[in-house]
Amino acid sequence: MADRQFEGKVALVTGASAGIGRATALRFAEAGAKVVVSDVVVAGGEETVQMIRAAGGDAMFVSTDVSNAAAVEALVARTVERYGRLDCAFNNAGINESGVDEWDEGVFERSLSINVKGVFLCMKYEIAQMLKQGGGAIVNTSSINGLVGSAGQLGYPTGKHGVVGLTRSAALRYAREGIRVNAVCPGVILTAMTERAMASNPQVKQMIETMTPMGRMGAPREIAEGVLWLCSDKASFVTGHPLVIDGGFVAF
Ligand SMILES: NC(=O)c1ccc[n+]([C@@H]2O[C@H](COP(=O)([O-])OP(=O)(O)OC[C@H]3O[C@@H](n4cnc5c(N)ncnc54)[C@H](O)[C@@H]3O)[C@@H](O)[C@H]2O)c1
Repeated sequence: MADRQFEGKVALVTGASAGIGRATALRFAEAGAKVVVSDVVVAGGEETVQMIRAAGGDAMFVSTDVSNAAAVEALVARTVERYGRLDCAFNNAGINESGVDEWDEGVFERSLSINVKGVFLCMKYEIAQMLKQGGGAIVNTSSINGLVGSAGQLGYPTGKHGVVGLTRSAALRYAREGIRVNAVCPGVILTAMTERAMASNPQVKQMIETMTPMGRMGAPREIAEGVLWLCSDKASFVTGHPLVIDGGFVAF
């Protein structure tokens, strides 16, 4: 029997037009949640919604740039208007500009604006709603680069370390108010983001596989499983935790 542990719950996923976000939106829907799919890429977001509906689920798309406060406020308002509440939020939208000059100020600023301020803004409006309801669960997407550095990149690891800091601090602040806040730290996962990085150098794929103890990249669904567990009642005593899902990458 399908696991329907999120039946009656409402889940919001940012960066859900593709990759990890799409896989998690589909997984939430499969587990019975009503899903708000959000992204800046409209065609991909609407495709995710169609995939959910085709499988018998309930979803809507809201186009949102997570670095824009008014847009994020409107996203949470639309969620509540349509579905009445917000139980789970996966703040996953992010960018990783690879093959660029690490000292480029624009690259650094964009990384902080989308990867860190985006999570800050999402939590700000999601938590305000969750407080009104008496609780909720939030998962933010960090990275293994939120725990260890990355030679040749500055903005991305700085931002992803920032996501861990935001997660831990919000978890402490709301621990007694029924809101759990955790993060996932994916290793190298096969998505468009990784394909873009590999496109610049065909040896990158082999390098990644060699550096990952399990000898392969992860699949988006392997991150989705972690997100659902963190949002579920099975993780009822887990908060402030950066969950590493990386095939052993940072175990060295
Ligand atoms: N793929 C990996 O190996 C890997 C590893 C560690 C962490 N991550 C993180 O996982 C998350 C998802 O990445 P992915 O691999 O699925 O990549 P992806 O590029 O397929 O998905 C990222 C999504 O975020 C959206 N997005 C970008 N800027 C946005 C903005 N300002 N507002 C709203 N949406 C925006 C994109 O349109 C895209 O759909 C990112 O935060 C990324 O940093 C990925």
